[in-house]
Amino acid sequence: MKYRATVSDEKQMVALGSCLGRGLASGSIVYLEGDLGSGKTAFARGVLEGLDCPDWIVSPTYTLVEEYQVALCKVYHLDLYRLDDPQEVEGMGIRDWQDGQSILLIEWPEKGFGRLPHPQWRVQISYLESGRAVLLEGPPTVGVLEAFVSS
Ligand SMILES: Nc1ncnc2c1ncn2[C@@H]1O[C@H](COP(=O)(O)OP(=O)(O)OP(=O)(O)O)[C@@H](O)[C@H]1O
Ligand SMILES: [Mg+2]
Repeated sequence: MKYRATVSDEKQMVALGSCLGRGLASGSIVYLEGDLGSGKTAFARGVLEGLDCPDWIVSPTYTLVEEYQVALCKVYHLDLYRLDDPQEVEGMGIRDWQDGQSILLIEWPEKGFGRLPHPQWRVQISYLESGRAVLLEGPPTVGVLEAFVSS
């Protein structure tokens, strides 16, 4: 299923992420794609808010991964931008997190090409002259994302 949205600022990006987060199943893998500064972390923050994450959400730019515990499951937020080689994914412990329960939010998945699990969701963010276009691809959802459905 494809969902399309246009967002004009960071607040709206967080709100859109939150829409996905509210309906997200445990075990979901989410790829967050888009150029530098396009809003991937803002979207991920929204997803975590939608999952009722009580913690302050920081970008994993330097740590590569941030871990959160929400009511549903654990959430791992990854930023692979700084990887030199996709093989480095193996050293991050990603196999341990693929327990079928944890949610993985992965920024820059292309940097881990061939070493990552297939996603349930792909979120592609692109720059518009003003704001951002967001394409979400994933399983049919009930409710929260329906307002953004496109054919
Ligand atoms: N429509 C918008 N949606 C999201 N962010 C926006 C928007 N318009 C402007 N911004 C700004 O763009 C920046 C997005 O930052 P963010 O860290 O979320 O991007 P990112 O894609 O994660 O970057 P990186 O590739 O460095 O990880 C923020 O400073 C935010 O205020
Ligand atoms: Mg980021």
